[in-house]
Amino acid sequence: KEILLKDYKKPDYLFDTVDLRFQLDEDKTIVSSKIAVLPRIEGVSCPLVLHGHDLKLLSIKVDGKDLKKEEFQLDMRQLTLASPPTSAFTLEIVTEIYPQNNTSLEGLYKSSGNFCTQCEAEGFRKITFYQDRPDVMAKYSCRIEADKTLYPVLLSNGNLIEHGGLEDGKHYALWVDPFKKPSYLFALVAGQLESRDDTFVTRSGRKVSLRIWTPSHDVPKTAHAMYSLKSAMKWDEEVFGLEYDLDLFNIVAVPDFNMGAMENKSLNLFNSKLVLASPETATDADYAAILGVIGHEYFHNWTGNRVTCRDWFQLSLKEGLTVFRDQEFSSDMGSRTVKRIADVSRLRNYQFPQDAGPMAHPVRPHSYIKMDNFYTVTVYEKGAEVVRMYKTLLGSSGFRKGMDLYFKRHDGQAVTCEDFFAAMRDANDADLSNFLLWYSQAGTPYVKVTSSYDPDAHTYTLRFSQEVPPTPGQPVKEPMFIPVAIGLLDSSGKDMPLTTVYNDGMMQTITSNNQPVSTTVLQVKKKEEEFVFSDIPERPIPSVLRGYSAPVRLDSDLTDSDLLFLLAHDSDEFNRWEAGQVLARKLMLSLVADFQQKETLVLNPKFVDGIRSILCNSTLDKEFIAKAITLPGEGEIMDMMAVADPDAVHAVRSFIKKQLALQLKKEFLATLIDNRNSGPYVFNHHDMALRALKNTSLAYLASLDEPELTELALHEYKSATNMTEQFAALTAIAQNPGQVRDDVLSDFYSRWQHDFLVVNKWFALQAMSDIPGNVVNVQKLLNHPAFDLRNPNKVYSLIGGFCGSPVNFHAKDGSGYKFLGEIVLQLDKLNPQVASRMVSAFSRWRRYDETRQTLAKAQLEMIMSANGLSENVYEIASKSLAA
Ligand code: ARG
Ligand code: ZN
Repeated sequence: KEILLKDYKKPDYLFDTVDLRFQLDEDKTIVSSKIAVLPRIEGVSCPLVLHGHDLKLLSIKVDGKDLKKEEFQLDMRQLTLASPPTSAFTLEIVTEIYPQNNTSLEGLYKSSGNFCTQCEAEGFRKITFYQDRPDVMAKYSCRIEADKTLYPVLLSNGNLIEHGGLEDGKHYALWVDPFKKPSYLFALVAGQLESRDDTFVTRSGRKVSLRIWTPSHDVPKTAHAMYSLKSAMKWDEEVFGLEYDLDLFNIVAVPDFNMGAMENKSLNLFNSKLVLASPETATDADYAAILGVIGHEYFHNWTGNRVTCRDWFQLSLKEGLTVFRDQEFSSDMGSRTVKRIADVSRLRNYQFPQDAGPMAHPVRPHSYIKMDNFYTVTVYEKGAEVVRMYKTLLGSSGFRKGMDLYFKRHDGQAVTCEDFFAAMRDANDADLSNFLLWYSQAGTPYVKVTSSYDPDAHTYTLRFSQEVPPTPGQPVKEPMFIPVAIGLLDSSGKDMPLTTVYNDGMMQTITSNNQPVSTTVLQVKKKEEEFVFSDIPERPIPSVLRGYSAPVRLDSDLTDSDLLFLLAHDSDEFNRWEAGQVLARKLMLSLVADFQQKETLVLNPKFVDGIRSILCNSTLDKEFIAKAITLPGEGEIMDMMAVADPDAVHAVRSFIKKQLALQLKKEFLATLIDNRNSGPYVFNHHDMALRALKNTSLAYLASLDEPELTELALHEYKSATNMTEQFAALTAIAQNPGQVRDDVLSDFYSRWQHDFLVVNKWFALQAMSDIPGNVVNVQKLLNHPAFDLRNPNKVYSLIGGFCGSPVNFHAKDGSGYKFLGEIVLQLDKLNPQVASRMVSAFSRWRRYDETRQTLAKAQLEMIMSANGLSENVYEIASKSLAA
């Protein structure tokens, strides 16, 4: 049941209009649909195949006449009309569904008593029979009928045309969406909800009414979401000239939701955790995530809805582009450097491992069994890096020209990644030859750069070589088009002025308005390639891949002292942070080797000095400092080892952390005290930076497990007036097992047991703990009254959290694997999408030693042998075993 990109065929039938009627009830829901169908080629007769899953067919009519038994064929997944009319006709279908039993949270389902939908990617087929594919775009109307007391609010896409009372305590609402759309953007909500209302006036004067809907007691927590929405609407006008196109925009917060959020036309549905926030209950990270995701879904209105995907292989066309847009939005609203660092860390920690494992796939996959499995960090985050590279190559205004042309050409269409590429190329007359390989080749390119200086000729040469590793189904790769942003530092740490560079003996002038530049973008296109800078008066220190200009692994011949120099001086703040990370990674790897050889660990004093000078540098941005003094994650280091050793990496990382805390205790204490802020909570960069630096210092100090430092952490916990600081203090304390930890954890629960989003943090904190043998504690928490296997957020907190602790998940006795294996099977019966996300934790089992391999493999085989396994879990488990 593998679907292939190369098998794409246009649909044989077009749908012009779709009129839906929902009769919502407690024991069943009746869905009636009336579709105006048009054969794509008039007069040609071919079967009409409609998707449908878990549906009870009540009736089917063509042009008002019931179809006879022999005129259609019904199986588990589709309804086929063998020979429908060869010119325009009306198709009417009535189905019965049971949303109250739908635990997959796909299609129409109930969450906390309210009805809601999730149709992307292929959930609409669980509502009614339809050509459930994004290249079928139609105009929808939706009439909802339901009990007036139980479901006072009835919402769907587009404009509310009519509403009123019905018999038996029921009422109805009729919604009409004037824009044509694919079925995945359909949405319906019915329930007891209240809204925060506001308005936004677009720059051409359209007055848009904005509503954020939640259960009434949560309405006070939607202020930040509303602020985020209005900021996003303004930003898209200013940066891309894109305006909203209807008179209303609704957002609904839902507690049971598989993913983050969904961009349904004018009716965005959100996981509650990405809408609800108050200073007392949400952290800075939550506030930032809400800003980013509210922006993301809003931006989809143009990149996704007005221009959509031809087929699901093109998912990155809308997701990569929209992630790029939300990243830029967040950068403009806060600190660009800090946002870039966070995004690159995410790419390294999650996408690089995927690209190097059995599920490696290109930004545009070639095949899938279950599309839900391809909503991945590769499609989203690497896809966003690909979009960013166009901007790096074409410049801001060139990129904008490309975007304008893309909308001019494709508004109202379902298109492909090549169409986006062509718009960027054509709008700029650019030579982007072989850039498209970024969409088709999987694997993280490995780029090596070496340098040499000729003091007589005053030339400086950079030699690049690149290699794309083999991935499943792609043993041999071609060289990629890699934009490498470069600056050269002189001995005082200043950027040298750059004027000319020779590539293959061809001279290129790199001035801007006849002025030398400090950064230039080299276009590395061959397996091996050389660039020679002229007029370079002294041997420079190169700052390579500034701003992380391409999603590659970079290896260079920079020495430790070069890296320390860059850490101290680079004008590119991203690379300044990166220099520290490269140093830290080298150091950690060498300590891991020492640990494995049972040598005593000694921390290089130069590293401590480097961290000290960053920590005490009052000219640096404080959030930047917090990032720069944070060590690379354990996953990142394991990724660089031939055989991943979670115990060694964990021991080394903890060792360095404690050594830094010990040797910089005075500095950390001073930093903590200097960065206390007694004012009210404000979500702005300045205040967040203070909190980030203070909390990072506290985490270091508390790692020492000294009574007076634990006392300090307790004081911070008790005096905190916002969740950012309270939770940071709790996390700091929870590093060390003991009575204090247990007491604070139970205090936190009793304070917050009424708030399910805060309770999820409490689950996650305990689940992620590196305390030895933590699996037992996690087992116990499965039976905690606040836990529920049917709620994805709780599963992600407790089970996902547990898999985030390498020492415990990869425990050498196999206890972590066994725990996950059993839970995956239980989950799969309830919610295959969530089960499949969890089973992915096994996918890199071959990276570990033989003992662990055997134990993990046994669990994967156990899962594969289970009866009635979902396609979702089957795809991940079988690919993990095969590769
Ligand atoms: N389009 C949504 C977004 O904004 C994600 C929907 C994911 N749905 C799924 N079944 N995986 O990213
Ligand atoms: Zn999206």
